[in-house]
Amino acid sequence: MLLVIDSANIEDIKELVDYFPIDGVTTNPSIIVKEKKNFLHLLKEIRDVIGNDRELYVQTLTFKATEIVEEAKYIIEKVPGKVVIKIPATIEGIKAIKILKTLGIRTMATTIYTPLQGYVAAKAGASYVTPYVNRIDNLAGDGIQVVKELTQILDKHKFNCQILAASFKNVQQVHNVCVNGAHGVTLAPDIIKNLLSHPSTEANVSMFNDDWYKEYGVKSLLNQNDVKI
Ligand code: G3P
Repeated sequence: MLLVIDSANIEDIKELVDYFPIDGVTTNPSIIVKEKKNFLHLLKEIRDVIGNDRELYVQTLTFKATEIVEEAKYIIEKVPGKVVIKIPATIEGIKAIKILKTLGIRTMATTIYTPLQGYVAAKAGASYVTPYVNRIDNLAGDGIQVVKELTQILDKHKFNCQILAASFKNVQQVHNVCVNGAHGVTLAPDIIKNLLSHPSTEANVSMFNDDWYKEYGVKSLLNQNDVKI
């Protein structure tokens, strides 16, 4: 199951790649503009941090299929390493996904709100489909249910397409998509860090350390020859 960073912030990406088993980085136009940097320079900076083997997902901006295809080719030409082109699941986007499939360019269909949008994108040849879990919930829909039903469609009919769920506001949503069949999640840095946060874990670690210190007077397993006993 993929764990992907949904951010273009270099400092956050550096820290997360250092500590977590990260598979890639997703961006979209809103995420890119937050960094106030040149688009291609920023993507190359991200590439330098994550290396050539992790996937970097870059979204197109235009509306017409022909223009989307041109943008996709441009991104592939300019950005080194493994790149997946993110394309919104509009009718023009689906046409572009079909064309890019014939050119051997991998795509992710994004802004998915219904299982049937995901089905059409997978059938068009998208390698990934990306339901927007929290944005669906905010429309009084059920983002988890969309992931569950989309999983049923893709798995039952053996589509070569993975669900990389996006748009989360809390770890409970992440938990729910994980147990309902998503093949991966793309998460903002604070949500990734929260996957490990639990007050009891912190308390237990402190207690182990304190017990050891009280007995041996040191706070490490190293240099055991120096301990009192
Ligand atoms: O990758 C899509 C994602 O960035 C949308 O998330 O949190 O803006 O709803 P959010």
